Amino acid sequence: MKILHLDRLVLVLGLALSCFCVDGYGGEQQQRRTYIVHMAKSQMPTAFQHHTHWYDSSLKSVSGSARMIYSYDTVVHGFSARLTAREAKSLEARPGILSVLPELRYELHTTRTPEFLGLDKSKALFPDSDSGNEVVVGVLDTGIWPESKSFDDTGLGPVPSGWRGGCEPGTNFTASNCNRKLIGARFFSKGYEATMGPIDVSKESKSPRDDDGHGTHTASTAAGSAVDGASLLGYAPGTARGMATRARVAAYKVCWVGGCFSSDILAGLEKAIDDGVNVLSLSLGGGTSDFYRDSVAIGAFAAAEKGIFVSCSAGNAGPSSYSLSNTAPWIATVGAGTLDRDFPAFVSLGNGKNFSGVSLFSGSSKGTLLPFVYAGNVSNATNGNLCMMGTLDPEKVKGKIVLCDRGVNARVQKGSVVKLAGGAGMVLANTAANGEELVADAHLLPATSVGEKSGDAIKRYLFSDPNPTATILFEGTKVGIQPSPVLAAFSSRGPNSITPEILKPDMIAPGVNILAGWTGAAGPTGLAVDDRRVGFNIISGTSMSCPHVSGLAALLKAAHADWSPAAIKSALMTTAYVAYKNGGNLQDVATGKDSTPYDHGAGHVDPVSALNPGLVYDLTVEDYLDFLCGLNYTSSQINTLARRNFTCESSKTYSLYDLNYPSFAASFDSLSSGSTTIKYARTLTNVGSAGTYKASATSGLAAVKISVEPDTLSFSKAGEKKPFTVTVTGSAMPASTNAFGRLEWSDGNRTVGSPMAFSWT
Ligand SMILES: *[C@@H]1O[C@H](CO)[C@@H](O)[C@H](O)[C@H]1NC(C)=O
Ligand SMILES: *[C@@H]1O[C@H](CO)[C@@H](O)[C@H](O)[C@H]1NC(C)=O
Ligand SMILES: *[C@@H]1O[C@H](CO)[C@@H](O)[C@H](O)[C@H]1NC(C)=O
Ligand SMILES: *[C@@H]1O[C@H](CO)[C@@H](O)[C@H](O)[C@H]1NC(C)=O
Ligand SMILES: *[C@@H]1O[C@H](CO)[C@@H](O)[C@H](O)[C@H]1NC(C)=O
Ligand SMILES: *[C@@H]1O[C@H](CO)[C@@H](O)[C@H](O)[C@H]1NC(C)=O
Ligand SMILES: *[C@@H]1O[C@H](CO)[C@@H](O)[C@H](O)[C@H]1NC(C)=O
Repeated sequence: MKILHLDRLVLVLGLALSCFCVDGYGGEQQQRRTYIVHMAKSQMPTAFQHHTHWYDSSLKSVSGSARMIYSYDTVVHGFSARLTAREAKSLEARPGILSVLPELRYELHTTRTPEFLGLDKSKALFPDSDSGNEVVVGVLDTGIWPESKSFDDTGLGPVPSGWRGGCEPGTNFTASNCNRKLIGARFFSKGYEATMGPIDVSKESKSPRDDDGHGTHTASTAAGSAVDGASLLGYAPGTARGMATRARVAAYKVCWVGGCFSSDILAGLEKAIDDGVNVLSLSLGGGTSDFYRDSVAIGAFAAAEKGIFVSCSAGNAGPSSYSLSNTAPWIATVGAGTLDRDFPAFVSLGNGKNFSGVSLFSGSSKGTLLPFVYAGNVSNATNGNLCMMGTLDPEKVKGKIVLCDRGVNARVQKGSVVKLAGGAGMVLANTAANGEELVADAHLLPATSVGEKSGDAIKRYLFSDPNPTATILFEGTKVGIQPSPVLAAFSSRGPNSITPEILKPDMIAPGVNILAGWTGAAGPTGLAVDDRRVGFNIISGTSMSCPHVSGLAALLKAAHADWSPAAIKSALMTTAYVAYKNGGNLQDVATGKDSTPYDHGAGHVDPVSALNPGLVYDLTVEDYLDFLCGLNYTSSQINTLARRNFTCESSKTYSLYDLNYPSFAASFDSLSSGSTTIKYARTLTNVGSAGTYKASATSGLAAVKISVEPDTLSFSKAGEKKPFTVTVTGSAMPASTNAFGRLEWSDGNRTVGSPMAFSWT
């Protein structure tokens, strides 16, 4: 289920696809699937007293037997139901129906992080007062393990007075599992069960209980209490704490063994908004279509409208370009970088050579050289090199260290396969797909992961030496690794394929080898054969970076209760850093070169600076509606997304470049011979003291000229707004050319920085 365990994704997909057949009603019903039906509430005939009666009647008019799954009101006007394709089509033609969209399936995409982010140094972010206390972070995920020490409520005051949430009982979960830290827990399984059949409670809890670990990890990263003496099997020892230790957590379980279904996600978002969360954290994705078809974008719009900050994972489909999900401008889209912490484990070969890798294996090693084989040579399967289940020949593996290639099946499963075949250890080698990116795992046998270059060198030794031998040496936890952060190869990259005019991701945050709370129902590898139980686990993915930003948003919300979600995002973006303290630009593991705004957006979050950004680029719902007009959405598409009868004015020109976003992007046509000029309208709001800010802009390429008008803005008081225009002229360039620039406003003290990214397509 975790995209974060990259290599596990394929397994999950395989499982889910084979389950699409389950409906069990026979005949025509077998072709039923779930649709989300969006209705124009303003067109409800007066004969209906309540909108749900109208929804019911509309459904009955096309099908006597169709079941309504959920009726929505906050995030969508409409309902979800099981329909045949024909019923869906005839429903779409009925009055008052905006759209009937097939349900989509989404997938789920620390002791050291607070120090790494400088949070320990700022009193301002951790005031002695109770201000952080009132902020609630809602997490839509695999549920929650309430016994985790991360949800200890010691020292927290009563539940915030406006809180309307609940603690829903179910399998192994009662209302008393909530406390003053975990103040809400709900589960949404109706959509999942409508497609997959009833939940088997012997395999997963039909309740908010997290049997997987992912939801507990993300929730504790965002807002877990401080826990002393935390570690994973001795790795990453120290105090584990979430970003916003005093914020409250509300868990909304929408993800199950077979994935996260959009009808459940919408129901979860609706409840979270009604309950009164201040921040929403969604480490899941899959919606890469237009915003009015994407349930996460639709739900996030309703949340933004209510002043709720929504942060989502950017996806783990990097380093390919155009691999982002969750790109709506009202969402904070978060990519992943590394920490300054590593878990080195060396492979030492019989020829005296020594290669570095990483591992979270918990035992020690004697350092004795053992016979060493390549998996492709000890298997008769065509893809034996991958160490898939049942493909290794025990006679040729027993007592030996086996080199397996990364890819297709889960990394930890490969180790389990070697162990089952009697192997003594594993070297997991990256191939070109993963390059030099190393992700540490809590393997079940002595094992280490090495990069592609080391892997190739080790294979040359294996194929040339008549009696190859090796041993693996574990070095524990090392901190102070430089450079850090570096962009993770798996972190999804721009450009933004839906709206190239909006730069995404917005920013990066720690997402590699993150320690946080874990379920008591599964081992650290998540494998059925792993019977170890741990209070904390170390995992990687943009699933892990997203809740860092959710927690930081909660801290900013506590410090600045009047800031809108867009202001919070602007503060995080314009203060993010793109260079190391000792100079040099942020690096990208995938290329070994400088990371670009298509990879890191505005840069790596710097929460202490974000507390006092000076100026912000603010946005309202009206701005987003104008943006939708700029996208040429029809009234019905806008109504589906924004639940209102909104007509774009025919006399007005809407430009996507005028959305008051804290970054700048454009794509130029490589076939046009002359130059192209783009004008961006922007407005800065003063959230600091009085001051005069001067603009400076770099374009990164001589073919791009940038001017800012006016280039000086003076603010005399807080809340004051000042507009300006950025004019960008791009000369003709060949396709695939990119130019990366930067606009900075500075008062000599604070810098309000924005990335600029231009590409020729
Ligand atoms: C939607 O708005 C337009 C113009 O504002 C109006 O003419 C129309 O009647 C409205 N439609 C509904 C269903 O309210
Ligand atoms: C409920 O919890 C107990 C103890 O943790 C566990 O043994 C049991 O398997 C759980 N039941 C379900 C249905 O998850
Ligand atoms: C292997 O090499 C690393 C540096 O590349 C070194 O730190 C480590 O001590 C070496 N280990 C052995 C066993 O030689
Ligand atoms: C082992 O596999 C490699 C790569 O497939 C091959 O080149 C080599 O000849 C094999 N060695 C043996 C002994 O089969
Ligand atoms: C490999 O092939 C041999 C001979 O065909 C067979 O006896 C053996 O079971 C196979 N081993 C595996 C692991 O498939
Ligand atoms: C919207 O339509 C206008 C007029 O046809 C066109 O110039 C513009 O490129 C379109 N915008 C988008 C985002 O498709
Ligand atoms: C710089 O900003 C900080 C924080 O707002 C403020 O305390 C300090 O006085 C400022 N310094 C100058 C020279 O403006």
